[in-house]
Amino acid sequence: MLASGILNETGKSMLEVARAGAGAIVTKSLGIAERSGHPNPCIAEIECGLLNAMGLPNPGVKAYADDIKEAKAGGVPVFGSAIGGSPEEIAEVAVALSAAGVDAVELNLSCPHAKGYGVEIGSSPEKVREVCGGVKSMIDIPVFAKLTPNTSSIASLASAAEEGGADGIVAINTLKGMTICPELKMPVLSNRIGGLSGPAIRSVGVRCVFEIFEAVNIPVIGVGGISTARDALEYIMAGAQAVQIGTAIRSQGTAVFADVCVGLSDFMSENGYKSVSDMVGVAHVADT
Ligand SMILES: Cc1cc2nc3c(=O)[nH]c(=O)nc-3n(C[C@H](O)[C@H](O)[C@H](O)COP(=O)(O)O)c2cc1C
Repeated sequence: MLASGILNETGKSMLEVARAGAGAIVTKSLGIAERSGHPNPCIAEIECGLLNAMGLPNPGVKAYADDIKEAKAGGVPVFGSAIGGSPEEIAEVAVALSAAGVDAVELNLSCPHAKGYGVEIGSSPEKVREVCGGVKSMIDIPVFAKLTPNTSSIASLASAAEEGGADGIVAINTLKGMTICPELKMPVLSNRIGGLSGPAIRSVGVRCVFEIFEAVNIPVIGVGGISTARDALEYIMAGAQAVQIGTAIRSQGTAVFADVCVGLSDFMSENGYKSVSDMVGVAHVADT
């Protein structure tokens, strides 16, 4: 799957990713009203990944409806990513996404760099339960909660999402980070703090999925630092039924989706697996 926030600015870019072999597309995170995001610099390249503080720029959910329609022409499921400053606002966005024709909603409860729009709600199990319950009472399509690793227990957040009625979990969003320019004696990002993505966070994401898999009975989608089939296999064996890819597109282009799929097929035939679901969570067997 294409992760939220990368190459999903327009219907055309999402269609391109679908045609390149992604099994599903997640839109950029959308709110009720247009947001301009943070001023530049809002991305810094560091060893093993990217630090971004985009600040959730988006045109507002209604203005994006035609892009959703265009993305759906790719023939794969489209997940609409919802943000909001309150449980009510998030539910309103989810309703608008559902009306725009998305196949599922992903609640972004985990952005580390947009004050009031992410972790303030997403690091409290009570609020996560409330948001998921509110959204579920308003729409009929599946609802996924995307959770933050910037917490002492992501498994408790996942359990709260499940109690609220979420149909699945997406883990992880970016890790809080900062980079400083020594000559300028100041943080590089205008927002100072950003979210770290890419290979640097893969082992954190795999650990989070492993813990969530043991805490809930709903499907988990793994994301964070995946650029090869072996990376995807780590998440699948930790318990993910599907995976998302974002940062790797920067270095590998959209070919990364087909490459990961081919690598997974090769691994499965070499190791006697008939389907991806035969591999989900198998790392836990060795654990008992
Ligand atoms: C530039 C950029 C923008 C992002 N924007 C969003 C966003 O709008 N909503 C969201 O839920 N996640 C967003 N993310 C987080 C990704 O969806 C993903 O959870 C994270 O980058 C880890 O995956 P990766 O290492 O494959 O990129 C963004 C990540 C990057 C690098």
